[in-house]
Amino acid sequence: MDSIKSPPWRKITQPRLLIGLVGFMSIITMISCATVQRTIVIPPHIEGATFVGSKTCEQCHQNITKDFHTADHSRLMAKGPNAQEMGCESCHGAGSVHNESGGARNTIINPRRDPETCFTCHMDMKARFDTPHHHPVENGKVSCADCHNPHKGRAVKGGGTSMTAEQDTCMQCHMAQRGPFVFEHEAIREGCTTCHNPHGTVNEKMLVQRNNNLCLKCHFQAQSASGKIIIGSQDHTSRVMQGACWSAGCHEAVHGSHVSSSLRF
Ligand code: HEC
Ligand code: HEC
Ligand code: HEC
Ligand code: HEC
Ligand code: HEC
Ligand code: HEC
Ligand code: HEC
Repeated sequence: MDSIKSPPWRKITQPRLLIGLVGFMSIITMISCATVQRTIVIPPHIEGATFVGSKTCEQCHQNITKDFHTADHSRLMAKGPNAQEMGCESCHGAGSVHNESGGARNTIINPRRDPETCFTCHMDMKARFDTPHHHPVENGKVSCADCHNPHKGRAVKGGGTSMTAEQDTCMQCHMAQRGPFVFEHEAIREGCTTCHNPHGTVNEKMLVQRNNNLCLKCHFQAQSASGKIIIGSQDHTSRVMQGACWSAGCHEAVHGSHVSSSLRF
């Protein structure tokens, strides 16, 4: 095992746990199952362990189990042939070894360190986090759990309550964008995800669009009879040729400014 080089978030000290490798194999199984109509999700595998059911976790983790019925993932449990078991073990892996050892270290998966367990069901997210600009979840600096609640309430932190609540999540770590600013950019009220995809994009700074279209979707570009490009009642004809709206010398303070009403700095 020691000869296998794996990134720190995947480091598994106990040789019995071939989580990464076997997890990958279950994705393969999942793909082949998907072709036969029924979606069967195979939870992350822990060598030597069998499934014991969520009830047993309650004995020792009552603080988590008591509110679990309110969690999106708990409510998502489907019935019938498409059943996706959304119990504790769908994210944490089979629990028998963990239970019998009384909760010994390295007997259960903690997705804070191992987002692979989320990717078994959210395969599109794996692709997102493979893009060049993404939150660093693979080395554990940022976790899915920083922005998502696995055990209680809405899975998207603040989601569905208010835009501010969803943004608070971002501002915990990104203080510079917090404000309040003397000159606010109203776009921020629409949410950080108007311009950024928190899971990652091919564009610098995880922007959803790489060019001026990012801004022009709200700042409608008026073309005057003389062919001039008017934005915010100013002639931008030569300006938009120079590069991105937020580039040096233009609207650099795109999140808000203390000095410039046109968000220049
Ligand atoms: C006999 C008691 C016991 C049972 C039953 C039990 N656990 Fe634990 N668990 C512990 C202890 C003790 C710890 C380590 C201390 C802590 O973090 O609370 C732990 C830690 C964990 C961790 C954190 C591991 C880490 O590496 O960070 C997870 C996740 C976990 N348990 C999930 C479960 C799940 C899921 C079940 C049901 C399948 C379960 N536990 C059943 C006692 C138990
Ligand atoms: C949707 C996936 C998911 C499900 C379902 C889930 N968990 Fe977790 N669990 C996580 C994530 C993610 C973390 C890391 C949370 C963090 O670090 O903030 C975690 C962490 C834990 C921990 C470590 C202590 C802690 O609070 O960080 C325990 C114990 C635990 N879960 C138990 C359970 C039990 C018991 C259930 C079932 C009632 C359950 N989990 C269901 C994803 C899940
Ligand atoms: C066993 C499969 C499974 C696992 C494992 C799983 N999810 Fe989910 N999750 C689902 C399903 C099914 C949905 C609902 C359909 C959808 O949006 O894809 C969902 C929905 C979500 C949503 C959106 C909820 C909303 O507001 O609509 C988030 C966020 C999410 N999951 C995050 C996670 C994270 C983070 C993990 C790992 C800690 C995880 N999931 C693990 C199956 C899973
Ligand atoms: C930096 C914060 C952040 C991190 C880290 C993050 N997410 Fe999200 N995620 C969000 C936000 C915000 C939304 C709501 C999207 C929206 O409002 O446009 C979301 C939505 C989702 C959804 C449902 C909607 C969709 O786009 O399909 C899933 C599933 C999901 N995230 C999974 C994950 C998984 C899995 C991880 C970890 C590998 C993760 N997220 C890490 C912020 C984050
Ligand atoms: C737990 C802390 C944390 C949370 C919460 C968080 N981020 Fe981040 N964010 C980071 C880290 C760490 C980086 C990587 C910084 C680096 O590489 O220098 C980052 C990078 C970024 C970047 C790219 C910065 C750059 O210079 O390339 C953007 C944009 C961003 N985050 C937006 C968001 C948004 C939007 C949210 C809320 C949906 C969010 N972040 C939530 C920690 C966080
Ligand atoms: C109107 C679009 C827009 C919105 C809304 C927006 N951003 Fe940005 N953000 C940008 C642009 C454009 C950049 C790139 C700036 C640059 O490269 O100079 C950026 C850059 C960043 C960076 C990298 C550091 C920096 O300032 O260059 C972080 C972190 C960030 N944004 C976080 C956030 C957070 C958190 C929110 C929500 C509170 C948010 N953004 C909302 C457009 C936006
Ligand atoms: C979600 C919609 C939205 C997006 C996207 C957006 N803005 Fe805005 N912006 C607004 C609104 C609303 C106002 C306030 C009303 C106005 O002045 O048009 C505003 C105001 C401004 C102002 C101040 C105008 C003034 O002089 O009062 C500037 C400068 C600006 N935006 C630049 C940008 C740039 C640069 C981008 C792209 C990075 C961008 N905006 C993206 C909605 C948006």
